[in-house]
Amino acid sequence: MTVIVTGAAGGLGSAIVEAFAAEGARVLATDISYPDASEADGESIVRRRLDVTDEHDWIALMDACEEEFGAPDVLVNNAGIYRPNIAFEDMPIDLWRRHFAVNSDGTFLGCKHAIRRMKPRGRGAIVNMGSGMSIKSNPSGAAYCGSKAAVLMTTRTAAGAAGPYGIRVNAVLPGAVPTAMLMGNKLEDDTDASLVARLEAHSALGRLATAEDIARGVLFLAAPESAAITGVYLPIDGGNMPGA
Ligand SMILES: NC(=O)c1ccc[n+]([C@@H]2O[C@H](COP(=O)([O-])OP(=O)(O)OC[C@H]3O[C@@H](n4cnc5c(N)ncnc54)[C@H](O)[C@@H]3O)[C@@H](O)[C@H]2O)c1
Repeated sequence: MTVIVTGAAGGLGSAIVEAFAAEGARVLATDISYPDASEADGESIVRRRLDVTDEHDWIALMDACEEEFGAPDVLVNNAGIYRPNIAFEDMPIDLWRRHFAVNSDGTFLGCKHAIRRMKPRGRGAIVNMGSGMSIKSNPSGAAYCGSKAAVLMTTRTAAGAAGPYGIRVNAVLPGAVPTAMLMGNKLEDDTDASLVARLEAHSALGRLATAEDIARGVLFLAAPESAAITGVYLPIDGGNMPGA
């Protein structure tokens, strides 16, 4: 099985890459921070640069994937950015657009180009990385919430479009997971521990999801055993239910 993961250098991306590799998959691990040329990392992982906002990059990546391994069986659209703690009325339009470029356009481009390559074989699975903030509003993260809400509808429209070709498209919605991205949310008086404790207090299980919990959810949705599941989004957040 050949799997492409975007945002692979980050906290969740690296756990997803490791989880697929542990299952015996060949993983094309991509990130904007990687060098242009493909680099092998052990037997099952190849690392290569991809800027998810750049359509030419996507075409070059898919060409390279087909040449080396064949069409991808699985794409995980995981790359994302989040700049928190900006008052709604102070949000610069460039920053708003950057969130949409990476989080929404990047997901759309990944779905588009994966579906084109998977369609001739009549199978494939795509997992998009939404967020709890795809469905919950956080006024100080308006650009992130809006761009992650778009990920859900892109998941559903892509699932409808690709279903007739045997391709499934689903999303996971992680709650807060202690990665570099989450720690960027600290308020002035916060430590890592106080931020985590505050967030844990909102979850039914009294704990946050780990990067490995998210990776397991991605593997579940991508697995052939989930053949009847498409167009859904799966929250993985320790039971973070507003009003519960
Ligand atoms: N950590 C959390 O609490 C949390 C919660 C919900 C959703 N998410 C989502 O999970 C995904 C991964 O988050 P993370 O916590 O691992 O963040 P992270 O910041 O650790 O990793 C994000 C990765 O995306 C890469 N990236 C950024 N812009 C890119 C671009 N244009 N092209 C390609 N790669 C790019 C970065 O280089 C980085 O390696 C994101 O989509 C994020 O929104 C994270």
